Amino acid sequence: MPMFDWFYDEVRQVGTDFTDAEQVKRYDSNMGDRSGEIQKLIDVLKLDSSQTVLEIGTGTGSIATGLAAVCEHVYAIDVSKAMLDYAAAKARRHEVGNITFAEGGFLSYRHSGKPITRIISHFALHHLPDFWKSVAIQRMYDQLENGGILYIHDVVFSFPVHSFETSIDTWIESIARSGSSFDAAELCAHIRDEFSTYGWILEGMLRSSGFHLASAEYNGNTYATYLCMKRE
Ligand SMILES: C[S@@+](CC[C@H](N)C(=O)[O-])C[C@H]1O[C@@H](n2cnc3c(N)ncnc32)[C@H](O)[C@@H]1O
Repeated sequence: MPMFDWFYDEVRQVGTDFTDAEQVKRYDSNMGDRSGEIQKLIDVLKLDSSQTVLEIGTGTGSIATGLAAVCEHVYAIDVSKAMLDYAAAKARRHEVGNITFAEGGFLSYRHSGKPITRIISHFALHHLPDFWKSVAIQRMYDQLENGGILYIHDVVFSFPVHSFETSIDTWIESIARSGSSFDAAELCAHIRDEFSTYGWILEGMLRSSGFHLASAEYNGNTYATYLCMKRE
């Protein structure tokens, strides 16, 4: 446990309550088929049986379960026990035995086990306010082996701040039009209560923690993917 009164409470849920088993089920069904995302991760991160992955904020465990099929081992952590229970049941159904599920988060997890060569944060880092994101990124850097890679994908803004109202509204409308199962109220709660931020802020945090930013892809001005290398 953190020894300071001022330390951020990362277990406290912001936005969607992922300690609620019904919300967990709903999230999993909203996310649908994840095979495309999993294959992209395998390709981009060059995953094979020599790699050990730490996934932070594993949620319902789809990515961890998919990656475990090709990796040596996956450590899948989350601050929500309801998410971890759901994820572990999914791994059992797929008869995947090389995942360690553990309660813990960006700010509290202390790794012991096989050295980590890849870290993945997929739609999770936005749960922390910006100062704590930078602490989380530094901790991920420290936990990664030299030569390792951090992959971050999240809701990240790249629209000009003077057009934030129309940009956010357009994003919410485009998701509704795409037939997504996430409703407008959930997206509004994301913007209002969670901590998505600007790409230039995240890029600064990644570089100042020591990472080499190999690529930063911005998609539709509300999503970003970062591939960050820890030098040998
Ligand atoms: C939107 S879900 C994403 C789950 C999964 N990565 C995916 O792509 O489907 C966010 C997850 O992050 C978890 N989370 C929230 N704050 C966290 C923290 N500080 N450390 C680790 N996980 C956290 C939540 O409990 C939730 O399971």
